[in-house]
Amino acid sequence: MRSGVRVPLISCPHPQKIRPSAWRLALAALVLSGICLILSGTPLRSQSAPAPAKAGGGIDDANLDARVESILGRMTLEEKIGQLVQYSAGQPTGPGTGRSDYEDMIARGQVGSLFNVVDPHQINSYQHIAVEKSRLHIPILFGLDVIHGFKTEFPIPLGLASTWDPSIVEKASRVAAREASADGIRWTFSPMVDIARDARWGRMAEGAGEDPFLGSVMAAAYVRGYQGTRLDAPDSIAACVKHYVGYGAAEGGRDYNSTEISQHTLRQFYLPPFHAAVQAGTASLMSAFNSLNGVPSTANPFTLKQILRKEWGFRGLVVSDWDAVGELIPHGIAPDGATAARKAFLAGVDMDMVSSLYHDHLQQFVTSGVATPAEIDEAVRHVLRVKLALGLFEHPFVDEGAAAKALYQPESIALAQTAAERSFVLLKNANGPAGKPLLPLASGIQNLAVIGPLADDPSYPGGVPQGAGPRVSLPAALAQRLGEGHVSRFQGTGILNGSDEELAAAVAGAQNADLVILALGEAPDMSGEAASRAHLGLPVRQEELLEAIVRTGKPVILILFSGRPLTVPWAFEHVPAVIAAWFPGSGGGPALARTLFGDVNPSGKLVVSWPRSVGQEPLYYNALNTGRPPDDVDLTRPPTDIPSRYVSRYIDQQNSPQFPFGYGGSYTSFSYGPTKISTQKLSAEALNRGSAAATGGPAMIAEADVTNTGSRTGEETVQLYIQLRGTSTAQPVRALKGFQRVTVAPGETARVKFELIPEVFAIWNDKNEFAAEPAKLTVWISPDSAHGSPAEAEILP
Ligand code: BGC
Repeated sequence: MRSGVRVPLISCPHPQKIRPSAWRLALAALVLSGICLILSGTPLRSQSAPAPAKAGGGIDDANLDARVESILGRMTLEEKIGQLVQYSAGQPTGPGTGRSDYEDMIARGQVGSLFNVVDPHQINSYQHIAVEKSRLHIPILFGLDVIHGFKTEFPIPLGLASTWDPSIVEKASRVAAREASADGIRWTFSPMVDIARDARWGRMAEGAGEDPFLGSVMAAAYVRGYQGTRLDAPDSIAACVKHYVGYGAAEGGRDYNSTEISQHTLRQFYLPPFHAAVQAGTASLMSAFNSLNGVPSTANPFTLKQILRKEWGFRGLVVSDWDAVGELIPHGIAPDGATAARKAFLAGVDMDMVSSLYHDHLQQFVTSGVATPAEIDEAVRHVLRVKLALGLFEHPFVDEGAAAKALYQPESIALAQTAAERSFVLLKNANGPAGKPLLPLASGIQNLAVIGPLADDPSYPGGVPQGAGPRVSLPAALAQRLGEGHVSRFQGTGILNGSDEELAAAVAGAQNADLVILALGEAPDMSGEAASRAHLGLPVRQEELLEAIVRTGKPVILILFSGRPLTVPWAFEHVPAVIAAWFPGSGGGPALARTLFGDVNPSGKLVVSWPRSVGQEPLYYNALNTGRPPDDVDLTRPPTDIPSRYVSRYIDQQNSPQFPFGYGGSYTSFSYGPTKISTQKLSAEALNRGSAAATGGPAMIAEADVTNTGSRTGEETVQLYIQLRGTSTAQPVRALKGFQRVTVAPGETARVKFELIPEVFAIWNDKNEFAAEPAKLTVWISPDSAHGSPAEAEILP
């Protein structure tokens, strides 16, 4: 074996603790962040995610306490309540409140935060009123949804997660922080860390997919990027992790719908990314719209107080989602606004986004004894703590000329392109006419047709209208490469409408071309908030266009643009090459051109299971086995065959996805050697003591050789999964517990090594706590969630 790229030891712990104690929390935080450092290759100084917060410049900085108390001691009740009130003073992202007297309210100390104001001059003008006219001169905190870049547009979060590269996510968030802060925005309502198991839910686009482990790594990376090494640096912004909690489990994938999540599932799947973000020092969290087991998340003391404050020790700010306090009325747990405000406030929501109900009712709660002054003080502390940690009291104003210099820096644009290149997932690459894989393309193509409604640079809506910066569309990038006369462009159809004439022109264009690039998918506003879909295929006439173009017999490369996986089984059967490009942001055109021609070898992998049909949703790899698992039946035998009928399956569709979680192709190929583990026997008692972790040693080392068997250098994300059987609560058929990106040259082998610390083996048990239990253990090191050779071990008592 030739020695391959040396890869560092790695293990990413389960972010939940077995039995929380201070030293264990600190240790786990260090290990988690250390791993992400190794994964990301970022310099040592930024390795410890919570360190900036603990060491100074973050919300947990003990030096803030005295300052918070000193301000609090001077505040009237009305001023205190003012800090708990937030309005949207710009474009709405939900039903408006009809209020516009912000200037007077600010002068009276009745507003703590404004959002959706994006003009630095306007921001300063409100801030001047707060700082110069209000009695205590407390600055306003300006927020915005900066979700995949501020002006320089990065791939949507689902695409960013598909890089499996937390360093890219951290760098992209840093750019977003620099640009947004230069504009006067110091608070972003991002990252969305909701676990999304159902592609019908449009907001899948805004998160990191279905897995809690990957979601936790990405959550921490976003927080580190936004908040930087010091939150009070002028180019840092406060993160707001959302939507706490369970929003992604909306029944039927219909946005805002109710959720029923057992504590077991909540603890093991939905909470971990939030916990990771808290450990990374996030300044704030947003309470979600959904009801969780009958109690709306915005009035849920169990999640907001018991878990967040008591178990996790969170000291930052909790803001409601848009009018979520007011929505407690239609939820049916509050007959009127006063009750809604009381329930949200007493449950632990500090700041009321938009509804105005805290403004209207909190004061009277104190006078009537519904809320104590101490409870008001505690909520105000959380707000002041964030404002102080951001250095807003020292630097309340934005330099109005700064934005022009900070936006669209060449390095930012280059980073957006790199991020896009790493986010593409090669779903299929079968042989073309030359008898070899169609991609990458040869450079001498004479006549390339680019067809489809999504080819011209689809920009995905962020908080601020984006796409204004320098962009090169895919057809333009291809023309730059091949020469103007060699690329023709046909619409074929609109995204949601189309004519016979357009379609015929595109078919004629394909007939005259050597090769067709087909750019199909969703309109950007078909995913995201309030964009759930009951059908996941190509909209309207796009499927017709696809089939007509393929019938010309010309080689076709399909590029799918979408905020979720799309069910296009016909395409997967008949089109030789398919790339999932998500919404790739401002670098998308050049990134795709470079990928098509092989300057870049695709390395993205799926962070959601790709369904064959919408009826399979919710679909996720880390499911429980059930009492009647279908095993290998999966439609290989007809459903009339009795032994294979009475199992957990559909009679008209496989259980397996079109492509599994973790899957992604490359222009080279990798082969995996057997998974080797350092021990076949672990002890539950020792794991729970955490003794191995305390001495710095892992509980288990797992390794495998990964060989590049192709002819190009490639980057592979090597994944580690475990399964536990015989435990008190049923565990998933596989659970991701580690991953590494390795670069391997042709013919070379990388030995990939994972260190598994005790927390990896902890489950949420039937006593409602995290602990390791006696179990049979299987470990896989594999290219995705459906393959790999297993290694067997046992956890003894
Ligand atoms: C969304 C949040 C967003 C907020 C403010 C809501 O409708 O659910 O994710 O942060 O609006 O724009």
